[in-house]
Amino acid sequence: MDINKKIKDLARKYSGNIIELRRTIHQNPEVAFKEYETSKLVYNKLSKLKLNRVDKITETGVVALLNDKSTKCVGLRADLDALPIHENTGLPFASKNPGVMHACGHDAHTAMLYGAALILSELKDELNGNVKFIFQPAEEKNPGGASILVKEGVLNNPRVNAIFGQHVIVDKPAGTLGFYPGVMMASQDELYITIYGKTGHGAKPHLTIDPIVAASQVILALQTIVSRNTSPYDPVVITIGKIEGGSATNIIPAEVKLSGTIRTLNEKLRKKTLKQIDRTIKGITSASGAKYKFEISPGYPELINDEQLTDFATETAKEFIGSRNVFEAERLMGAEDFAFYLKKVPGTFYRIGVGNTTDIHTPTINLDESALSTGAGFMAYLAWNYLNS
Ligand code: NI
Repeated sequence: MDINKKIKDLARKYSGNIIELRRTIHQNPEVAFKEYETSKLVYNKLSKLKLNRVDKITETGVVALLNDKSTKCVGLRADLDALPIHENTGLPFASKNPGVMHACGHDAHTAMLYGAALILSELKDELNGNVKFIFQPAEEKNPGGASILVKEGVLNNPRVNAIFGQHVIVDKPAGTLGFYPGVMMASQDELYITIYGKTGHGAKPHLTIDPIVAASQVILALQTIVSRNTSPYDPVVITIGKIEGGSATNIIPAEVKLSGTIRTLNEKLRKKTLKQIDRTIKGITSASGAKYKFEISPGYPELINDEQLTDFATETAKEFIGSRNVFEAERLMGAEDFAFYLKKVPGTFYRIGVGNTTDIHTPTINLDESALSTGAGFMAYLAWNYLNS
């Protein structure tokens, strides 16, 4: 039996079901931690398949198990949440929830994982192990649904030996697959800084402590951490994305708030950079007599793909869609909570091309649905290959 061909035939057979689910989810998007209807829909769909278990996990996640053997278990993961963006695609199945849109392709990820469950359910008895299907909430919001699911034991009972996840990427031909061994995505933390000065008349600055001037110096000085304190071979991004302070042209305010994000590709640099940020704010505020508060909202760790399993997945993709449809994925300073699973279990996070469209997180993204049956089929084939080889 040629399993490659068999899975391709099944993927073709189910492509209508996969697209239908993607469109239903696309039309009814829900933001992070609010995926009540989406998870109910996925739960009901999975309950109709020949799975051994379908369970709810945390408020809005679903986890299902195919087979319950004492051999290996492979985890396959999708994310369920949409973004607070108002859709502007004009599609017949565009979002019915104003201000909420599946603009990051999580509708496609969910539909493809469902497709993999449809395919693998038919191959149940021939599979030499277990498959855990993980539909997680809240990829887009700290602390990340993945971190909650890991704490709730999603990787145990049975123990997941390897995990795979995929993410759409625009401007790559639909259905092509991209891989990257090692550190592929950055760690991410949110920064919240308040600078306290002494308010007063704008014409009498000498009687005040001006938090606007101090904040300006802090913003510029933070960039010297990148350019002067960090090796040019070790990327770090510090972005202040928001400044709030002041109420009139002639008043020096009492305080200024800054918020932003930092990205690094390793834990050591992450910790060091956070310390340097604190030191920089401390030095500048103390020079002007201002005070400060610096709070960090910890985000996701850097995403590290296991080199061996990435090679394995790359070779499996070449078998499934041919070498010319497999590309080397780019390393990004974006973050992804799949990193939490990879801290516990080896695996790889890979890209699936969805054709030319605007970028993810834009209101006009319109992905090429012909990628979906390939994405579902490949996930199934990857799980098969991992368990049966
Ligand atoms: Ni995403």
